Amino acid sequence: MVREAIYQHDGSGDEDPQTGKTLPDGQPTVAPSGEDNRLRPKKIAEMVGQRDVIERLRIAIDAARGRAEPLGHVLFDGPPGLGKTTFATVIPNEMGAVVQFANGAGLKAPKDLIPYLTNVSAGSVLFIDEIHRLPRSVEEYLYTAMEDFRIDIVLGEGVSARTLNLQLQPFTLIGATTRAGMLSGPLRDRFQIREHLGFYSVADLCQIIRRNAVKLKVQIDEPSAIAIAERSRGVPRIANNRLLWIRDYAQSKAGGKITVSVAQQAMEMIDVDNLGLDKQDRAYLKTLVGVFAGGPAGLEAIAHTMNCSSDTLEDEVEPFLLRYELIVRTRRGRMATAKAYAHLGTAM
Ligand SMILES: Nc1ncnc2c1ncn2[C@@H]1O[C@H](COP(=O)(O)OP(=O)(O)O)[C@@H](O)[C@H]1O
Ligand SMILES: [Mg+2]
Repeated sequence: MVREAIYQHDGSGDEDPQTGKTLPDGQPTVAPSGEDNRLRPKKIAEMVGQRDVIERLRIAIDAARGRAEPLGHVLFDGPPGLGKTTFATVIPNEMGAVVQFANGAGLKAPKDLIPYLTNVSAGSVLFIDEIHRLPRSVEEYLYTAMEDFRIDIVLGEGVSARTLNLQLQPFTLIGATTRAGMLSGPLRDRFQIREHLGFYSVADLCQIIRRNAVKLKVQIDEPSAIAIAERSRGVPRIANNRLLWIRDYAQSKAGGKITVSVAQQAMEMIDVDNLGLDKQDRAYLKTLVGVFAGGPAGLEAIAHTMNCSSDTLEDEVEPFLLRYELIVRTRRGRMATAKAYAHLGTAM
């Protein structure tokens, strides 16, 4: 599926950071790459929506620059595809700073973090994606690095072991997570700036689609951009993936021009319905309604029945279903709403 194919290339998700590129100077990094990255804004001015977040960041960046200090540590949280990695690439660009990319899933012990920390130059940025996946030991190792720009390194083993106290260059840590609730309080408190990214409006997504159509050199009219935006579930990454697929479809079937009917045919072909739900979203609703009689059902039970991971459901499927009031979360589990029954065309 188009969405998944692109997912694997943006430096987020489950891939092993060690498979990322290594820069000539030996600096480990998982720089985002792929088609998704091609459409990624490089400057704050190119970003659409999230006005409040951008406004606050601009002020913080401005002030830090004025003091010739690194920006305070920043934490972004929100569902996948809303711009966390984009902010983490745009901020260093604005500051003229170097950035290293790491992933919480790949930092299994403090020793995995040391190369990144010793590599930071003054004012540079260290981005840790999926920071909720850091084990407690690594998280605790970060505390002094974040607070005092200092770490302890243990050299040797057993009786000959000694501890080296290392002063680091002042840097900015940018963390991203889809699960703010899973971060420990002490780690969360060490971020001076904490921003939650919410879903985008149709108007914002429409603007993103139009801009990216220009980048992709494909013709699109306003009604078509709106039709795609309305079926993108409030998520820029989904809007981009829909646009990429529709561009291919238009090129191969419609002489390269995107019209409303071309866009609709293309989306039908990948099973995107009029609310923007795809197969997986509908499978979730059908499972909840068909297997669990509309609920309440536990997330694990639904995931098990669908034969997929509960993380995927919680991160990628449920936020939109909740927002659209197709499901509700109760203390006893998930429940389908009347709107869900109506959408599936099933009697309650
Ligand atoms: N505010 C924005 N303006 C324009 N495009 C955006 C914006 N936020 C995200 N995007 C697009 O969506 C894609 C996915 O965003 P990304 O930052 O990778 O999401 P996340 O890291 O939160 O999963 C980016 O490659 C970019 O093209
Ligand atoms: Mg990301």
